[in-house]
Amino acid sequence: MKVIQNANLRDYNTFGMDVSCKCLYLVETAVDIPALFEKGTFDSEYMMLGDGSNVLFTKPFQGAVIKMVTKGIAKLDEDADNVWLNVAAGEKWEDFVEHCIQNQYYGVENLIGIPGLVGSSPVQNIGAYGVEVKDVIEEVRGWRISAKSPFAFRNEDCQFSYRSSVFKTGLKGDCLITDVVFKLKKKEDYHISYQGLADELQKSDLSLSLRRVADAVVAVRNSKLPDIRQYGCAGSFFKNPIVEKDVLDTLRKEFPHMVSYPSGDGKVKLAAGQLIDLAGMKGVREGNVGVWPHQALVIVNYGNATGDEVVAFYRKVQKNVMERFGIRIEPEVNVI
Ligand code: EPU
Repeated sequence: MKVIQNANLRDYNTFGMDVSCKCLYLVETAVDIPALFEKGTFDSEYMMLGDGSNVLFTKPFQGAVIKMVTKGIAKLDEDADNVWLNVAAGEKWEDFVEHCIQNQYYGVENLIGIPGLVGSSPVQNIGAYGVEVKDVIEEVRGWRISAKSPFAFRNEDCQFSYRSSVFKTGLKGDCLITDVVFKLKKKEDYHISYQGLADELQKSDLSLSLRRVADAVVAVRNSKLPDIRQYGCAGSFFKNPIVEKDVLDTLRKEFPHMVSYPSGDGKVKLAAGQLIDLAGMKGVREGNVGVWPHQALVIVNYGNATGDEVVAFYRKVQKNVMERFGIRIEPEVNVI
């Protein structure tokens, strides 16, 4: 385990915030975890960090930051139809998706291009183009901090919902995830009904393959989302709001093209990007911060923005949407 005192976190968050923490622990093997307890790491302020692709630091963090940098993708089992893989929390999500494509395992190809680590993927139940990671997770393993003991949660124990799970609600801050077990298909099974993806695939009549679907997803993402290696950002800044169906009916009188997706319980999910867009904020830039011109859900750090600048800006976006539609949009990003 590497321990760095007064570490600078600039390279550890995709927004590129120049903040420090009291101590950074880079956990290279799960065997190190008991030592973290012995050192009293969790007795004062701490946070678990993945690849920092869903976090906005607004100030120095006065505690310990724990980051899993463990590696490994191991086949646990397989039958004629499925394969079960145990993946270390510190593996890059992108590398895991590539591994699956190369081995002809179906299930995560629509999630190509999502930044972050495998260990963070269940926390906010990452999702894109009609697939959520909960669809392929069998088990999540790690350590409960309060109990100082290992846990293994089956899919149903994780309480997955849209961009949420037990790891960011009831057990927030109490689970250090070390491994995720995935169940993937070995036979062709594509999810290509998401409109933007279907449109992209229709541009050519080549037969479907894992690579082709993944390439189409990458093309759609590249047309809408900034390259995080070039622009500081954290993907979608806001969650898509879930509202009662009658709210949508009322909105549609004025905006007949308001996009919505069913969300269970008779509720509907609206597209926050469209609301921000219609509120006139798409492409708006103030100083170092702005709404991305090709996808209004994304807030970008164009230069050396401070956390406070980003916060002031996102609140302004929130306020505009509230004034225009009476709907509160909430950050998907963790604001620290
Ligand atoms: N829209 C606009 N203007 C915009 C952006 C979107 O009118 O500026 C409209 C689009 O035309 C479309 C609808 O809103 O009809 C939805 O847009 P899109 O398909 O781009 O998806 P999204 O709801 O904006 C969500 C996820 C993305 C994920 C895409 C694709 C959330 C918060 N975001 O975005 O996830 O890639 O669907 O599945 O759920 C992320 O979480 O970081 C992320 C990028």
